[in-house]
Amino acid sequence: MCGIVGYYGKRNVPEVVLNGLKTLEYRGYDSSGMAFAGKNGLSIIKSVGKIKELEEKFKNNPINGTVGIGHSRWATHGVPSEVNAHPHIDCKNKIAVVHNGIIENFMELKNELIAKGHKFVSDTDTEVIVHLIEDNYTDNFEEAFKKSVPLLRGAFAIAVICADCPDTIFFARMKSPLVIGIGRGETFLASDVVAFLDYAREVVYIDNGQLGFIKKGKISMFDFDGNPIKYKTSMVLWDAEMAKKNGYKYFMLKEIYEQPECLAKTINGTIRNNDFYLPNFNIPVEHLKKIRRISIVACGTAYHAGFLGKYFIEELAKLPVDIDVASEFIYREPIISDDTLFIAISQSGETADTKEAVVKARKFGVKTVAVTNVVGSSITREVDGVIYTNAGFEKGVAATKSFTTQVLVMYVIALYLAKIREMISEETLLEYISELSSISQKIEIILQHKNIENIKMIARMYQNCRDFLFLGRNVNYPLALEGALKLKEISYIHAEGYAAGEMKHGPIALIDENCPVVVIMTKSKLYEKVISNVKEVAARKGLVIGIASEGDDTAKTVVKNLIKIPDASPYVSAILSVIPLQLLSYYIADVRGCDIDQPRNLAKSVTVE
Ligand code: M6R
Repeated sequence: MCGIVGYYGKRNVPEVVLNGLKTLEYRGYDSSGMAFAGKNGLSIIKSVGKIKELEEKFKNNPINGTVGIGHSRWATHGVPSEVNAHPHIDCKNKIAVVHNGIIENFMELKNELIAKGHKFVSDTDTEVIVHLIEDNYTDNFEEAFKKSVPLLRGAFAIAVICADCPDTIFFARMKSPLVIGIGRGETFLASDVVAFLDYAREVVYIDNGQLGFIKKGKISMFDFDGNPIKYKTSMVLWDAEMAKKNGYKYFMLKEIYEQPECLAKTINGTIRNNDFYLPNFNIPVEHLKKIRRISIVACGTAYHAGFLGKYFIEELAKLPVDIDVASEFIYREPIISDDTLFIAISQSGETADTKEAVVKARKFGVKTVAVTNVVGSSITREVDGVIYTNAGFEKGVAATKSFTTQVLVMYVIALYLAKIREMISEETLLEYISELSSISQKIEIILQHKNIENIKMIARMYQNCRDFLFLGRNVNYPLALEGALKLKEISYIHAEGYAAGEMKHGPIALIDENCPVVVIMTKSKLYEKVISNVKEVAARKGLVIGIASEGDDTAKTVVKNLIKIPDASPYVSAILSVIPLQLLSYYIADVRGCDIDQPRNLAKSVTVE
């Protein structure tokens, strides 16, 4: 989704802004632009398409300034075009604004401003901000900014510069992320810390309802009523290396390979000395003992992790679990009693629907917990407790390591609740906990050369198929959904995930000799039933690709292509089985020549509803 960069400091300003925009490319965008203010006034450059096109344009028209702002736009109001790309400027060409989010009252404001004589050139909601500030600006720009921001409704992170104050960047936030980076003699503003990780690790997370300015590097912050605010700084633990590809063709592949390490870190962040270690969970054990229901909400891949959590919690902790996609949850009439524990899962912690779901859940007086990967993200400020997934910075749009670490955290939550509710013996609990230490090594086995070559071969075989089906039962059903999502988002092949037992109720009609069917058929209590489902597919000439446990001799007799994973409990197997699904999607997309890290129309984190 849209990205913002701002810079004041001793370096070459356009270079820093451009580099920041390049780092934010992973968020997804369709056009970009930069504005600089300096002794020659305000200068702007914009382009449609990739940042490299903006860079080319800039080379032919090198503009500069003492402060700069940049933006990558993911179109909401108005088609991707230069006119609609940010920055937007006022009628006198003095003020420039970049904005993430949606201004809900833009039509109302626009009509008022047009009536006052302002000329609008774009179809965007953003342009209203700059004319509004212009309208309030007589002699004090700071006051004009402070007066204008509270008049905006909706979600916004904005950065503004003005030719009359070429040493200052103005900013404001309501619901869309914005963070300040403090370097040595230089200050950054961005929608995401990765934009400045190369230069600064000390950060100030701007909160909802805060505005301010960075003047000659000095930060001043206020609430929307103009009252000064003391801000806190914190240190980012991620390093800039995480935002680099390190020789991998795509970030997605690098992140698939990082999973053994990430999972080890997540285990270390949740379990120590064979006991639970949940330092930010903040829900008292006495309260947890009284919990009678769990409600889980998330979007996309995070929803699939939550769906697995439902199986884990119901089976291990014997608690009923509701699971919803956040965009549905926020607009239905859920019945939530105060003995419910609400869990929101979000890698970024910035997904608008998931954040709104937390706000809605809180109205029922329930305790809320976030499972997220990003320290300081918006969701962490909305909930009672947090469990971090410790996956490190995930740049590939297709979620990989965030998924496996989320699944692991859901498993830890299930075991923790099982222990508190005395639904598990000490011995079994220790057995499950000790199994966790083997996960990383088992994933390393899946990532061995011969296994990768097998998956590549399968990818080449099926690269031109039009449709794929993914099947699984029990914990392998959410994995079938995740496998299908991964394939469609990066390879653009149509794919559907189904509960294998549902096949005969409709989808089996799709099976023919051109339809690959990926079946997750690892050893489980439903194994025999899955084998029957595989036979049903094979009898209709379907091309079965099976993901099975090592040592399973039946599997190879019933499937066309087999991918083996190390044997494990069904819970750990759920984490292992997704790795071949990620790899299969990756290699199919790669052989089809797709831009894997920047799939069309997708944004890494969806910060608008
Ligand atoms: O940051 P979040 O976990 O809240 O993001 C949720 C989804 O947007 C995300 O998982 C999306 O489905 C991914 N592109 C899947 O690969």
